[in-house]
Amino acid sequence: MRLIVRRDYEDLSLWAARYVAGRIRNRGPAPAGPFVLGLPTGSTPLGLYQELIRLHREEGLSFAPVVTFNMDEYRGLGPDHPRSFRYFMQKHFFDHIDLRPENIHFLSGLCPDEEAECAAYEEQIRLAGGIELFLGGAGEDGHLAFNEPYSSLSSRTRLKTLTQGTRQANARFFEGDLSQVPRTALTVGIGTILDAREVLIAASGQAKAEAVRQGVEGPVSHRCPLSALQLHPRAALLCDRDAAARLAPETLDYFSQISAPCQPFSI
Ligand code: GLP
Repeated sequence: MRLIVRRDYEDLSLWAARYVAGRIRNRGPAPAGPFVLGLPTGSTPLGLYQELIRLHREEGLSFAPVVTFNMDEYRGLGPDHPRSFRYFMQKHFFDHIDLRPENIHFLSGLCPDEEAECAAYEEQIRLAGGIELFLGGAGEDGHLAFNEPYSSLSSRTRLKTLTQGTRQANARFFEGDLSQVPRTALTVGIGTILDAREVLIAASGQAKAEAVRQGVEGPVSHRCPLSALQLHPRAALLCDRDAAARLAPETLDYFSQISAPCQPFSI
């Protein structure tokens, strides 16, 4: 894996947006196939989405060749529910770019049959040619998408029960009312994320520092789903200084030597 440490949240967001834009623009010789992008919700990607919108408006970045798959969705919330991830994506990103509606893929929180829904999602990813770049954030306990600690590192898309900690952390999106936060969600698995050809996970702020330490310096363990990135040949963890604060100096030294600033996988 690669570790990229940027000064602060803004710097991290600009770096991520430049990287994603570069990957879309250089996706291969025309007429290239679609660029298949995995997407997260949460507060961490907001700065990235804002900068991608700016690049679209001011620098001609087009999402017409992009196909997206979002990571997860709350069970029981439909696309019109203002707290659903589908609604969040529409409001913060999709409404402002030229992504084709038919290229947006989402797990349905209202599906009648979770197992069928999750199996169909895996199949849609496969039919799209697999995910080229999976973007994500991490929970304070190291969860990826809604793969809570102790999720199988080879898990596939499925229904998961959310921990009390995750529900409490996400209550801020429900006016602080924990009783409104769904108890379950549909989520891609860790195995689904690891199948992507590249994975870029962002972590910002001191609250993520312990998860980052365990994910980078700890053993690969289901206790910290973020540590599964160690198994991926083209995975990068993008942190700001606060999120990297608990890493040992030798860890920071090693990764600063191997990662070129804008080309994490160039070596
Ligand atoms: C939720 C999402 C994750 C996200 C995490 C962290 O649990 N399911 O995909 O990474 O929150 O969110 P934030 O970026 O707001 O810290």
